[in-house]
Amino acid sequence: MIAPLTDPLLDRAASLIRDSRAGLAFTGAGISVESGIPHFRGAGGLWTQFDPYKVASIGEFRRDPAQYWTYSRNHRRTGAAPNPAHLALVDLQRAGHLRAVITQNTDGLHQKAGSTDVIELHGSSHAVECLDCERTYPRDRIDQLNRQQSPPLCPGCGGRFLKPTVVLFGESLPAQPLQHAQALAEAADLVLIVGSSLQVYPAAGIPRLAREHGAQLCIVNAEPTPFDRMAAVVIHGRAGEVLPAIASRTIPSAG
Ligand code: APR
Ligand code: ZN
Repeated sequence: MIAPLTDPLLDRAASLIRDSRAGLAFTGAGISVESGIPHFRGAGGLWTQFDPYKVASIGEFRRDPAQYWTYSRNHRRTGAAPNPAHLALVDLQRAGHLRAVITQNTDGLHQKAGSTDVIELHGSSHAVECLDCERTYPRDRIDQLNRQQSPPLCPGCGGRFLKPTVVLFGESLPAQPLQHAQALAEAADLVLIVGSSLQVYPAAGIPRLAREHGAQLCIVNAEPTPFDRMAAVVIHGRAGEVLPAIASRTIPSAG
């Protein structure tokens, strides 16, 4: 159920953001849904159709990279553009209300929209690394090879284990972005959480850590999350509608 965008909730979110001095955005797949990229959990999510341990785990990738690349060829969306939710975060950051955007997404849409200080906890889908020789390649080049042959072979060493630089199930998060996000969370006074089911750790530990250190949480998500009861404001709605409404109330010139 999507609740109506009642003004008091939007006003409360805007006033929390306006009053914060060390705000963060924490985003998940839901923020990119209106850009045409599917999310994972909940109504319409990819993991309701596919088993994540088959198509997105390092064990399965190493066992059968062809299966991974066939899935990629059939399901990867290219050419996505930022939507009004990504742009609203840019406006909030430019107005001085957000220090950084911490994201679980690998689509690069925050950077494309113009956000700065974007921390990618789960890597990027735009680069591919050879697990044998460690050379890296742009994703477009390997997607092209993958259209001819799955799995694509490393142009440098001929190896079969070309992997997008995304974190698969069974892999650790990149240490430096995780530590940076943790430090920001400990210093944050507000986290604006957008489009995440908040079920996947250690990423979901970031807003939790911020809350434990005294930050207020403001959640914008289509469905309820396990963090709703810890949040100062919860708005159930579409990110592309709710965030511009919050930004225009926070920064009167925005939107
Ligand atoms: N606006 C706001 N929220 C939305 C929208 C929308 N337009 N569309 C969907 N949602 C919500 C869904 O209801 C869901 O609760 O976004 C949430 C997305 O949750 P997940 O699909 O679990 O995405 P995320 O939290 O980013 O997942 C974390 O899991 O499989 C992995 O590595 C993947 O980074 C991902 C991680
Ligand atoms: Zn190689």
